[in-house]
Parts: sequence; C-alpha cells; structure tokens
Amino acid sequence: MNVLLTGGLGFIGSHTAVVLLNAGHKVVVLDNLSNSKIEVKKRISEITGKQFVYCNGDVRDAEYVENILLKEKIDSVVHFAGFKAVGESVQKPLHYYDNNLIGAIKLFEAMSKQNVKNLVFSSSSTVYGDPQTVPITEDAPTGGTTNPYGTSKYMIEQILMDWHKAEPQTNIAILRYFNPVGAHESGKIGEDPNGIPNNLMPYISQVAVGKRPHLNVFGNDYPTPDGTGVRDYIHVMDLAEGHLAALRYGETHSGFEVFNLGTGSGISVLNLLKTFQRVNDTNISYSVSPRRKGDVAVCYAD
Ligand code: NAD
Ligand code: UFG
Repeated sequence: MNVLLTGGLGFIGSHTAVVLLNAGHKVVVLDNLSNSKIEVKKRISEITGKQFVYCNGDVRDAEYVENILLKEKIDSVVHFAGFKAVGESVQKPLHYYDNNLIGAIKLFEAMSKQNVKNLVFSSSSTVYGDPQTVPITEDAPTGGTTNPYGTSKYMIEQILMDWHKAEPQTNIAILRYFNPVGAHESGKIGEDPNGIPNNLMPYISQVAVGKRPHLNVFGNDYPTPDGTGVRDYIHVMDLAEGHLAALRYGETHSGFEVFNLGTGSGISVLNLLKTFQRVNDTNISYSVSPRRKGDVAVCYAD
C-alpha cells in the first residue's frame, strides 16, 4: 500500500509510521510541525532502516494535499493531523475548529477529487461523552461531548458518515482511541509534548525525571474503588498495530466502520501511579487536588 499519514511525525503517527514501514508499505508523511519535531523523521528511519517521503505542509492546503496524493500514487490515508489538548480547546475553540474541522474537510475533498477511497480516521473515546455503561461498545450513544476538541471529533465522524452515504465506494474506518501511552522499545521516539503535559502519563514521566516537582491527582471522590478516575491505557505500539490492521481489513472489506482501540480494562490514577513507581523503582511526589472540569469518572473500552 502507498499510505499518506497526515500528522505522521506526532506521537501516534510516528509509531504507526514505524509499523507500516516494517510491514513493507510505502509511507508518505504530511506534517506542519505544529506539535512535533523534524528530528522524529530521522528517528523513524533509524528504527526501521528505511526512508520515507516527508512533506512539510498544512493539511488545510487542499491543492498541496491533492498534489501529494497524485504524485505519490497514494491509495490510503490515515488522518492523524489535528490539535488534541482538551483544556486549550475550551480557551481557543475557533482555533481548534479551524484546524481539526477545516483540515478534515479539505483532506476529504482532495481525496474525493483524486479518487483516493481508503481512509482511517483518528477519533477518540471522548465522542462517548460521559458513558452510561462500561465497558463501552461501538454502538453506545455518541455526542454530548464536553469540549470543542471532542465536538470536533464528533462532527468529523458525522461528516464521514455523510460522505460515505454520498460516495459509497469510499472505505472508511473510524478508530476511537482510548488512552494511548508508552513509546517504541528503542526509546528513540515517544510522547514529547510541548509545554506542560495535559495527560497523566507524560506528566508522571516528567515528575520522574525531575522536570516537574509533583503530580496533582485530579479528584479522589469519584465513584470508583479508590476514588480516582479510571481509564483504559493502551500501549502506543498496540495502537499503531491497530492502524495496520484497519488498513489490511480495508483491503478485503468495504464500507464504513467504527472500532474502539483500547485494552478492555480500566485502571485508576493511583493504580497507574503505584505501578509506575514499582516498575521504575522510583518515587513520585503527588497530592490530591480538585476534580478537573470535564473529566468523567470511568471510561474503558469493550
Ligand atoms: P500529536 O499532536 O503528537 O500529533 C499530531 C500531529 O499533527 C503533530 O505532528 C502536528 O504537528 C500535526 N498537525 C497538526 N495540525 C496539522 C495541520 N493542520 N497540518 C499538518 N499537520 C498538522 O497528537 P497524537 O497524540 O499523535 O494524536 C494523533 C491524533 O489522534 C489526533 O487527531 C488526536 O486528536 C487523536 N487522539 C489522540 C489521543 C491521545 O491521547 N494522544 C487520544 C484520542 C485521539
Ligand atoms: N489526571 C490527573 N493528573 C494529571 C493528568 C491527568 O490526575 O496531571 C487524571 C485525569 O483526571 C483522568 C486521568 O488522569 O482521570 C487521565 O487523564 P488524561 O488527561 O491522561 O486523559 P483523558 O482520559 O482525560 O483524555 C485523553 C486525551 C483525550 C482523549 C481521551 C480519550 O487527552 O484527547 O483521552 O481518548 F479524548
């Protein structure tokens, strides 16, 4: 397959690039480096011993995207590019809708014009809002999102459904990720957010290496066994394999399908913290602070 990865130098995209290159596929990455570093390109090639095409540009630049699709004879696209910080999306909704929604629409238009039918889209368990029951199955209600980031994912899912109805020859897999964590075993690529991390695992890691003084545990009064939030943490390499599986599935199936990508088990903040301390033989200083706005108590996949 000739696969275009939008946002392919980011956390999940870079690990997926490794998996696809190792499986022998041609990889083309489009990234504007708004949340990644060019160094990652070199690292992916070091890990795999393979070269790939990198295009520095914005997914909202439809003409540029069309040229890539044509020139590189792309047959499948994995659309990672977008902004993902929940809190920031509340502060800057227009910025988020511009990048995530417009980016998606421009990309799908370019694909439609160039007759590229296969798409894997990075969605999120956030589209389930506050789930009524767990584990969450793919047919659980969506919508009821609590922030512009989540709403942008929900809207793009709706747009994809309508696009597929209008052009049934499109082959679309929506992957709803739960909580991706970890890094490639080489340690050459991983999660390296700019500024203060929003997510639990990179925050704990930065406390562990002395970059931050201590962790705030957001609330211990949730209706969970130890009172802290429960999530489904999936290793990023497993998540990356999920993209290859979705692309392969698309070779023999056509249509519009939604898949959860999680482990199926929930783990609490304190549980994760204790495990991190044990396996790394280290101490993480923490204190309990109030609940974070918009957080749900429990979220894990079927
Ligand atoms: P990331 O920020 O590490 O990667 C996104 C990449 O896209 C970055 O390299 C960034 O430079 C690039 N990008 C952003 N806007 C762009 C644009 N307009 N044009 C070109 N490139 C652009 O994020 P990630 O964790 O790898 O997430 C990838 C996707 O998965 C995102 O769509 C995100 O919303 C989704 N997702 C992530 C998580 C998570 O917890 N990491 C969970 C659910 C869904
Ligand atoms: N948490 C803390 N302290 C922190 C950071 C997080 O206690 O410093 C807690 C949260 O309250 C939550 C758990 O750790 O209970 C996980 O929080 P994350 O921010 O790591 O993850 P979320 O489940 O809130 O959200 C993540 C991504 C979203 C995505 C969602 C579902 O940030 O983009 O997973 O895929 F939509």
